[in-house]
Amino acid sequence: MKKNFYVTTPIYYVNDVPHIGHAYTTIAGDVIARFKKLKGDQVFFLTGTDEHGQKIERTARNAGEEPIELADRVVLRFKNLWEKLNITNNDFIRTTEERHKKAVEEIFQRIEGIGDIYLGEYEGWYDVRNEAFITETQLEEYMSLPESTRPPIEKVKEESYFFRLSKYQEPLLEFYEKNPDFIQPSYRSNEVTRFVEGGLKDLSISRTSFSWGIPVPGNPKHVIYVWFDALANYLTAAGFPNDMERFNEVWPADIHLVGKDILRFHAVYWPAFLMSAGLPLPRKVFAHGWWTVEGEKMSKSLGNVVDPYKVADEFGVDVFRYFLLREIPFGQDGDYSRNAIIGRINGELANGLGNLVSRSLGMIEKYCESKIPEHASLEPSDENIKERAIQTVQQVEGAINEIAFHKALTAIWDFIAIVNKYVDESAPWSLAKTGKRERLVTVLWTLAESLRVIAILIYPFMPKSAEDIWKKIGIPQPLESHHYSHAKGWGAVKSGWQIDKGENLFPRYQDK
Ligand code: MSP
Repeated sequence: MKKNFYVTTPIYYVNDVPHIGHAYTTIAGDVIARFKKLKGDQVFFLTGTDEHGQKIERTARNAGEEPIELADRVVLRFKNLWEKLNITNNDFIRTTEERHKKAVEEIFQRIEGIGDIYLGEYEGWYDVRNEAFITETQLEEYMSLPESTRPPIEKVKEESYFFRLSKYQEPLLEFYEKNPDFIQPSYRSNEVTRFVEGGLKDLSISRTSFSWGIPVPGNPKHVIYVWFDALANYLTAAGFPNDMERFNEVWPADIHLVGKDILRFHAVYWPAFLMSAGLPLPRKVFAHGWWTVEGEKMSKSLGNVVDPYKVADEFGVDVFRYFLLREIPFGQDGDYSRNAIIGRINGELANGLGNLVSRSLGMIEKYCESKIPEHASLEPSDENIKERAIQTVQQVEGAINEIAFHKALTAIWDFIAIVNKYVDESAPWSLAKTGKRERLVTVLWTLAESLRVIAILIYPFMPKSAEDIWKKIGIPQPLESHHYSHAKGWGAVKSGWQIDKGENLFPRYQDK
C-alpha cells in the first residue's frame, strides 16, 4: 500500500506581493513532494493564503474595498506564481473558505470544551505587520532594533479570550525531549526549547477591535486571532472535521516547512493547540533562513523586493529553482544577487550539465546516426561511472530526507563533473578516428545511461530540464511514471532509441 506523505508550506498573507522569500518555501516544498512521489508515496502537498486579520482589513479599507474583495482580487498573484514555477500542490486553501471556518470553529470549541480557553482582558502591545502579540521580553528586543527596521507596534487594551498556553510548558518540553527531530535544524530546536523554558504566558486568541475574521462561536463580538485561524488550515485541508476518514489517513503532517520568523507559531503554539484538542502532533517543523538582496534586508521601503515572476522570466524557472536551493544550505540565511545567479548559470549549468548533455548527444548523433548504440563489455572506467552513479543516487536520497537540498545538488554536480572528466579521458573523438568502434559505442552508451540517471536525480529540483533530457535520450515512457529506484538500475537505456539533441539546455548568460 502507498504511504501517505503530507507536506505543507505556510499560507501566505494574501495581500503581500509575492517575492523570492515566498517562492523559496514553496519551491522547497515542491522538491520534497516531487521526490516523495517518485519514491512511490501518496503525496499531499498544501499551500494557500492567509486572508483574515487586522492588516488585511486595514489595507482593504484604505483602498476603499471590502476585505473579501481585496482577497479575491489579489489571490491570483500567488496562484499564478505557483503555476509558473511548476509547483505541484494538490490543494490551495484560502482561510476565507467555508470548509475552513468549520474547522476553526470545531477546534476552538474542542479546546474550550476541555477548559483551556477563558475570557479575560489583554493589555499590551500588538505588531500588526506580523499579527503578533508582543510580550514584555520581546518589547525590549523590539526597542533594540534600529528604528527603520522596527515593525510599528500599537498599544491594545481589550476583552479577549485566552488559551492556557502556560499549562503546556512542561508537556511541550517533554515532547521536544522525546522527539529530538521535531524541530529542525537542531540549532533552531535549541532556541525554541530555551524560549519555552523561559516560561509561557497564556495567549490571547481573540480580538474585538476589528471584525475581519472568524467569529468566536457563541460570542460574535470577538473574532478569532488570525494565527489561531491560520494554523488550523493544515487540519482543514486534510479533511477536518467534515471527512474524518480522510483526515485520519492524512494527518499528522509529515513536515511543516516554515521560515525562521514563524517558527515559534509552528513549534510552540501549534503543538500546544493540538495537544489541547487531543489531536496528533506534526512529525516535523523545518525552519529555513532568510534571504537578503545584494546584502540588504528585502523591504518595500528600500524598493529592493525581488519579483519571482521577473527572475523566472529572465533566467528560466529551473535556473531559479536551482539557484535558490543550491546557493545556501537550507536552514541558513543567504544573499540573492544577479551576479550570483549568473555565476551559477555559466558555471554549473552551462559548463557543467548543459555541456555534458550537448557533447554526449552530439557524439551519439555524429557517430551512431542519432541512435543509442549497443555497448560492448564494460571496462574499469565505465564500471567506475556506474558505481559513482549508484553512490550518488543514495547520497541524494539521504540528503533530501535530511532536507539538505544543497547537499543533494552538490552530490549530483560532483557526479556530473566526474562524467565530464570521463568524456575528456576516454576522448571518444580519438576512438572514432582510430577506428576503435567497440570502445567508442561503450563510452557513448555509458554517457546516455549517465544522463538518464542525472535526469531522475534533478527531476525534483528542475522538473522541466529533467524531462527535456529524458526526451532527448528518447526514453519512451514519461519520467514521472518511473520510480526513484530506477535511477539505481544501471543498464536501462536501450540500443536503438532515437535521440534528439535539440537546443542547448542552458546557454551561457551574457549580462547586457
Ligand atoms: N501568513 C503567515 C503564515 C501562516 S502559516 C499558518 C505568514 N505569511 S508571510 O506571507 O508573511 O510569510 C510566508 C513565508 O515567507 C514565511 O515562511 C516566511 O519565513 C517567508 N519569508 C518571508 N520573507 C522572507 C525572506 N526574505 N526570505 C526567506 N523567506 C521569507 O507569515
